[in-house]
Amino acid sequence: MCGIVGYIGEGSAKDMILTGLKSLEYRGYDSAGIALNKKGKILLRKESGVIANLEKKTGKPDFDGCVGIGHTRWATHGSPVRENAHPHLSADGRIAIVHNGIIENYLELKSWLKKNHGIVFKSDTDSETIAHLISVFYKGDLIEATGKAVAKMRGAYAIGVIAADEPDKIVAVRKDAPLIAGIGAGCNYLASDIPALLKYTRDIYLVENGEIVLITASEIKIYDEDMTRVKREVMHVTWDAAAAEKGGYEHFMKKEIYEQPEAIRETLERRLDEGGNIKLDGVTLTKKEWGRIDKVYIVACGTASHAGMQGKALIERFAGVPVEVELASEFRYRNPLVNDRTLFIGISQSGETLDTLEALREAKKRGARILSICNVVGSSVARESDDVLYTWAGPEIAVASTKAYTTQLVSLYLIALHMGRMRGFVAEDEYRRVIEELRALPEKAKATLKTEEHIRKLAERFYIKEQIFYIGRGQDVGTAYEASLKLKEVSYINSFAIAAGELKHGTIALIRKKTLFVVLATQDALYEKMLSNIEEVKARRAHVVSIAKKGNKRIAKVSDETIYIPQCADEIAPILAIIPMQILAYHIAKLRKRNIDKPRNLAKSVTVE
Ligand code: G6P
Repeated sequence: MCGIVGYIGEGSAKDMILTGLKSLEYRGYDSAGIALNKKGKILLRKESGVIANLEKKTGKPDFDGCVGIGHTRWATHGSPVRENAHPHLSADGRIAIVHNGIIENYLELKSWLKKNHGIVFKSDTDSETIAHLISVFYKGDLIEATGKAVAKMRGAYAIGVIAADEPDKIVAVRKDAPLIAGIGAGCNYLASDIPALLKYTRDIYLVENGEIVLITASEIKIYDEDMTRVKREVMHVTWDAAAAEKGGYEHFMKKEIYEQPEAIRETLERRLDEGGNIKLDGVTLTKKEWGRIDKVYIVACGTASHAGMQGKALIERFAGVPVEVELASEFRYRNPLVNDRTLFIGISQSGETLDTLEALREAKKRGARILSICNVVGSSVARESDDVLYTWAGPEIAVASTKAYTTQLVSLYLIALHMGRMRGFVAEDEYRRVIEELRALPEKAKATLKTEEHIRKLAERFYIKEQIFYIGRGQDVGTAYEASLKLKEVSYINSFAIAAGELKHGTIALIRKKTLFVVLATQDALYEKMLSNIEEVKARRAHVVSIAKKGNKRIAKVSDETIYIPQCADEIAPILAIIPMQILAYHIAKLRKRNIDKPRNLAKSVTVE
């Protein structure tokens, strides 16, 4: 997630950049840096840790200038150390870049740069490649060189560049990562997000995908991919600082729901190489060690435990190893059967949940190998694990977890498929098929967000309910649990999730006229059975809202309302199906005037037992 900032004008670039970076702190970061152009030379300062460390480093008055770029990094590729912090310099030190996003083909570019230009890399990042690439193409025109460099890159990026030889400009370019340019008086700005600029200007240009921007002190020129000048309306920002942090959304929960396509892409793409093979950075288990595992425990709390339920289905299916899913608060009190052939997978967004941490310690004592799925770099769970697979969801601020959940699911697909391959269990064509399905996910998640208006209207009808049931079969059971938890925590409605087949063993007694059932029916293999369950509850005069894959028409005939998600393989559906459920919980809570981002009695990180 992290952020970039740039300044060009008469004033102090250092001061503006530091202020801008501090305003982007909510995006999360673990190192920060600034590069300035002073009298035709690039000055660079960067530090790991908090921005105060960078402030100390840049404290002397001789470190300043009128043009510069800055960055707060949230470690993705390579650990959060100074060398990996941005900005990155070209080998001759005359080009500096900051970058948000992922360069998917960076390994290929890196070997090309090494082989053809003898470049020695100083960091473990994909971003450093950009500085070298621009430098290789640089013939005195920064915008031309940047254009040539991005033509070679694949992935997602917002990039800011300065060149020692052209102190009068900043060049920026964007694809699938946020970027804006701000209009000042005698100066101009660049940033990832509006809050960075609010102290300086409220007039901005939103940079679109594929566009390249030339910023001087007196003007901002935007070009498309063919270098044709683009005319853009100035946007005048009227939000206050707090609203700006929410990116114009009314609540963090909504913002985070909408960040899911990007978060899924970040978590996924970095782990897939050119050939579509999974590379689990931070996971050091060897083929032999994967092969020795004879049991997996997935242990977590709350939403993360629902991700674990999906993880069980995935690992058993693709890797052929039996999996138990346990609530962390129960695990260590019942003498779990753990030994040195057990893989313990702890899932925790915060990495600080005490129950999860204690369960992990207990499993470790009993000899298990500890692999965790975490969103917070360097958190306690991450530090105490043998291996960590980070979700790159960016900071999640709303208490109700949304993007952390979907990225935990993505991580579990990656682990399950990789494990299956290492153990020779998953067939090659099956592996390839699921990878292709995963690759299509960010776009499908985006399409799923379009259900919002339909759901908002449904919420207007149902927000007064005092009880809502969620049912599903197979992988839809986990989704039903998570959907129900979402609703409960933000709306305070008494909601209940149950495997559809269990209904008739008791819960059916609760159905009365107009009892609301949300029916998850995204599993083709169980579709017919779900239709029967709908008939079963309809016969008792329940009201049914179904979630199904596009193209499944029969369900619309038997349900009162149907919400469609894009077509996808059954195994992939949980990631898409939860999105309308998050939106439903959000709108119902909003209509009930709840404190959506901070529901009563709940905490984001539960560090007590
Ligand atoms: C709290 C939060 C939930 C979260 C759970 C586990 O209850 O409110 O949103 O799912 O803790 O948190 P973790 O950080 O371990 O994923």
